[in-house]
Amino acid sequence: MAKRNTCYVTTPIYYVTAKPHLGSLYSTLLADVIARWNRLQGKKSFMLTGTDEHGQKVAQAAQKAGKTPKEFVDGFIDAYKNTWHTYNIDYSYFIRTTDKAHVKAVQQWISDLIEKGDIYKSHYEGWYCTPCETFVTDNEIDEQKKAKKELHCPSCSRQVHHIKEETYFFRLSAYQDRLLKFYEDNPDFFCPPERAKEVINFVKSGLKDLSISRKTVKWGIPFPGDQEHVTYVWADALNNYITAIGYGQKGREDEFNTWWPATTQVLGKDIVRFHAIYWPAFLMASDLALPKQLLVHGWIQVDKQKMSKSLGNVIDPMVLKDKYGAEEVRYYLMRHMSITHDSNFTIEDLEQTITSDLANDLGNLLNRMTSLAEKNDAMSITDPAVWSKSALKLIDESWNVIEDFSEYMSENLIHMALARLWKFIHQVNAYFHAQEPWKLAKSDRDAFMQVLGVTCHSLRVIATLLWPIMPKKSEQLLQSIGMKFEIKEELSWVENLKLSWKGRTFMLSKIAALFKKHESKPEEDTPKQSEKKTETSDEHITIDDVIKVELLVGTIEQCEEIAKSDKLLKMQVNFGQKGMRQILAGIKSSYTPADLVGKQAIFVTNLKPRKMMGIESQGMMLISKDETGKVHINSPVTKVPNGTRLH
Ligand code: MSP
Repeated sequence: MAKRNTCYVTTPIYYVTAKPHLGSLYSTLLADVIARWNRLQGKKSFMLTGTDEHGQKVAQAAQKAGKTPKEFVDGFIDAYKNTWHTYNIDYSYFIRTTDKAHVKAVQQWISDLIEKGDIYKSHYEGWYCTPCETFVTDNEIDEQKKAKKELHCPSCSRQVHHIKEETYFFRLSAYQDRLLKFYEDNPDFFCPPERAKEVINFVKSGLKDLSISRKTVKWGIPFPGDQEHVTYVWADALNNYITAIGYGQKGREDEFNTWWPATTQVLGKDIVRFHAIYWPAFLMASDLALPKQLLVHGWIQVDKQKMSKSLGNVIDPMVLKDKYGAEEVRYYLMRHMSITHDSNFTIEDLEQTITSDLANDLGNLLNRMTSLAEKNDAMSITDPAVWSKSALKLIDESWNVIEDFSEYMSENLIHMALARLWKFIHQVNAYFHAQEPWKLAKSDRDAFMQVLGVTCHSLRVIATLLWPIMPKKSEQLLQSIGMKFEIKEELSWVENLKLSWKGRTFMLSKIAALFKKHESKPEEDTPKQSEKKTETSDEHITIDDVIKVELLVGTIEQCEEIAKSDKLLKMQVNFGQKGMRQILAGIKSSYTPADLVGKQAIFVTNLKPRKMMGIESQGMMLISKDETGKVHINSPVTKVPNGTRLH
């Protein structure tokens, strides 16, 4: 029973050949968010991360750097820990595979399996990929030979080399049927489920015994009972998930039993085979339970390619943090990157997300509410005697959000959970604006207080649900409505949101803007400019302001992509009597040029021309963004002459 209230989340352990990059941060962040989400539900959670320090890849990198492997890896540990601390990754333990306890436990594991007959000595001959530290199968090599391709690693495409040596084998073939049965009986093991197919096909094609020692490599855990061999790095590394919580260590049995089996093991799609085949087979051989779920994520790409040192496109999270803030980057990665697919990273997207979602939608809501409260001596807010219909509607909507958000989180669809939460934030903003509290402050004090009150209630829900994603910002937000956030075991903050909503007093305090805006492209001018208006005056604009903006309908005659831009399309737009204009718009994620040619859309045509990526844009297209982030152009319902002005 106690088990149900615990949660054990792991990250892959990172090869220490360089500092962490944005891809390593992504894996680690996913684990942190999942562990925090469980904590928020009152579960006792353990989050594990660490470093994979042995093997040929690390040894070669150390040699290149003119260092011993241990000196070399020691030099990176602080960079990992600092990055995780900077990004508020609340790991419970950081394991290093060079830790004595881990080394001893792995050796014990090997000795036990030798005794059981699951490990035996023989000879290996085949192909090896050092960057992936993996044996490439004969089938894969045969296919490449048939296709007359240069022999390469199917995962990273780099050259493989031939090895022929004495080795110890793990009897993997003996687990083929048990593995297939396990996948069948546990459909939730793979998240997303689409990842199962590739693994099942691989297992069905026939498993060969796995070489788990290397004679020609020196940097590794000495193989017990045979000094000529070291342990194959994956047999060493995978075991970190159990040695870190006490496996094979006297006196730590209770600890191990508290956490194992893992609830969620986070990993990238490149290392599925190791985690979905070798790892469960190792555990079966040791009579241990299997992890509940593997959460397999796609890659963060830069310019549509996986980030890698050799491509020189690595993004340093510490540099990003200096300019944009750690919590903002956390939000962006969780909102923008879809777990199931590869996602492209661009600075433009990052800036736009921070400006529009965080500064405009959320930060500005808090700021407007507290400014108004301060101006009208209303910093202490209690529930009204009777709630208005519109207020109750919003409060009810917040319960729906909690449910939907929880549902998405239980499926690890963090980006969807955030999209749903943002839909609610838009509703709260719309409610606030529609109520015109700046007018009510003068005409109806009770109604004014009620608008502030319902906004506080909404912010309480928003900030709490956001805690796993932006813990510090969420705490600041809660603090500014007079709430202290403290995680307590056994207390589900999520359930508590609804159970204890009534009868609160919100003591407001004005805090500095939660988020900074980033000016990156003119498409952002729409929210920025309109926000400026509401921020400063909280009043309606006049008809003169409306007339100033020239909104014209035009037909897109030509459209093309702009090289090197992930967002922008360049259009030639026909405005009839008003002539042709070249207009750039950030809509490439939702439209191809072919989708647009011949379509009518609405444009602001009297904006000062502005250059983007060195190309002039002579107007701005009006677009709408839905909750999934997809953009839509706005076309007149019926075709009108080009150059028609909107009134
Ligand atoms: N050491 C092994 C894992 C052993 S776990 C018992 C390893 N290390 S790694 O450093 O190469 O990769 C660690 C994780 O980072 C993997 O899950 C990998 O998918 C992830 N990422 C590395 N680059 C990435 C991106 N560009 N994007 C997202 N994640 C990627 O494999």
